[in-house]
Amino acid sequence: MKQNIVILGTQWGDEGKGKIVDYLSKYSSYVVRFHGGHNAGHTLVVDQKKIVLHLIPSGLLHPNVIGIISNGVVVSISELVKEIEMLKKNNFFIHQRLFISDSASLILPFHIAMDIAREKTLGINAIGTTGRGIGPAYEDKIARRSLRVGDLKNEKKLSLKLEKIVNYYNAQLVSIYKDKSFDYKVILKDLLKFKNIINDMITDTNIILYEAIKNKKMIIFEGAQGSLLDIDHGTYPYVTSSNSTVGGVITGTGVGPKSLDYILGVTKAYSTRVGNGPFPTELFDETDSYLSKEGNEFGSTTGRKRRTGWLDGVALRYSVQLNSLSALCITKLDVLDNLKEIKICIAYQNINTLEFHTSLSCNNLENMKPVYEVYPGWMKKTSGIKKIEDLPKAAKNYIKCIEKIAGIPVDMISTGPDRNDTILVRNLFL
Ligand code: GDP
Ligand code: IMO
Ligand code: MG
Repeated sequence: MKQNIVILGTQWGDEGKGKIVDYLSKYSSYVVRFHGGHNAGHTLVVDQKKIVLHLIPSGLLHPNVIGIISNGVVVSISELVKEIEMLKKNNFFIHQRLFISDSASLILPFHIAMDIAREKTLGINAIGTTGRGIGPAYEDKIARRSLRVGDLKNEKKLSLKLEKIVNYYNAQLVSIYKDKSFDYKVILKDLLKFKNIINDMITDTNIILYEAIKNKKMIIFEGAQGSLLDIDHGTYPYVTSSNSTVGGVITGTGVGPKSLDYILGVTKAYSTRVGNGPFPTELFDETDSYLSKEGNEFGSTTGRKRRTGWLDGVALRYSVQLNSLSALCITKLDVLDNLKEIKICIAYQNINTLEFHTSLSCNNLENMKPVYEVYPGWMKKTSGIKKIEDLPKAAKNYIKCIEKIAGIPVDMISTGPDRNDTILVRNLFL
């Protein structure tokens, strides 16, 4: 029995993690966001209703599930309150089902201003961040000057810490970036207002998870972003500021590695990337237009057009290795339905060598040319298919080739955005 499942993106984010977490949450007692912040955009479609979550764990549409925002997350309280309100409007009530770690660092308005100001200054060298203040908030955490969720409980301490950090940011925003300054009293007033709404949710989430594991409750750890955006292992510096690989679960929750039973890598049947940075299999031709349109490849958080490309087997092998993946879930297979031929990059051509295994963290990817294997398309509708045997032969062959390239099994396939458009190839819960 798989008790604790980690669900991670193997590419540059937007693989469909939210949909898969939502699907598997019906079996689960807890769903945990362990890193990142509201830079994530996880789309769930249930009974034709679309819900996009940025901070709240994707399992909470199931009334049996308890959601945890653990210490590794950077939390914007205003965004969190907005999301709780949005769910309420859609008749999803999370009262007494969401807990936030008192050790999580806060994202505050000056982090957002700094993120945007820096990106503007970088011009064509910008990272292409989501502008949500993620980088500056994690910088403060590492520099040991963060305001943490637990600080909201002590108004006096909060006020003193806030005044100090606002001064620190104002000095840079005004003198270096010629930007506006912030008044800490205004920020404080807002924080206290929001705190009243979330006060009961603030707790030591380590203990909740420890008890859950002891009582053999099933937990899903919901990754955000993707492995290639990991701060240590991704395509640095074009990455996010947290560990989106499996190590982030350990540091971001306080749960030890022996408690993780199964690690599922969610992989789009092709590739996308939003923001700047290397992308070896990127397409600029009519296939890009096709994938963009059929896959509706526009960011769930910023609305930006996602760059598209063929599936990158070298990058996939790297993700399998980084995360000790148990299996893959292939999403958006249906998007390929009308392509005559489909390619997978199986190696990178360097100047004189072929690279089948390589780190994407420090390699000079600009000089690498993808080497492709070409597969026949199936030219048949797969959207909504729920059983592996109903897939066309060429689609099954494509899945087999991915398994061979990745070296691990494909345990799930997603054939549409709806929760039910899902094939469970192997019963994960045996
Ligand atoms: P996440 O960030 O990994 O949760 O992914 P996003 O929600 O940002 O982007 C995935 C997009 O693809 C969303 O619009 C989903 O509704 C959609 N989606 C997920 N799985 C499938 C699928 O199998 N087929 C199709 N056509 N769309 C899917
Ligand atoms: P989900 O969870 C795709 C990208 C940004 C940018 C880089 C750094 O929906 O898969 P940041 O704002 O984190 O400092 O931006 O990371 N990025 C994502 N791309 N999906 C995401 O999340 C992303 N979160 C951040 O576009 O390139
Ligand atoms: Mg997304």
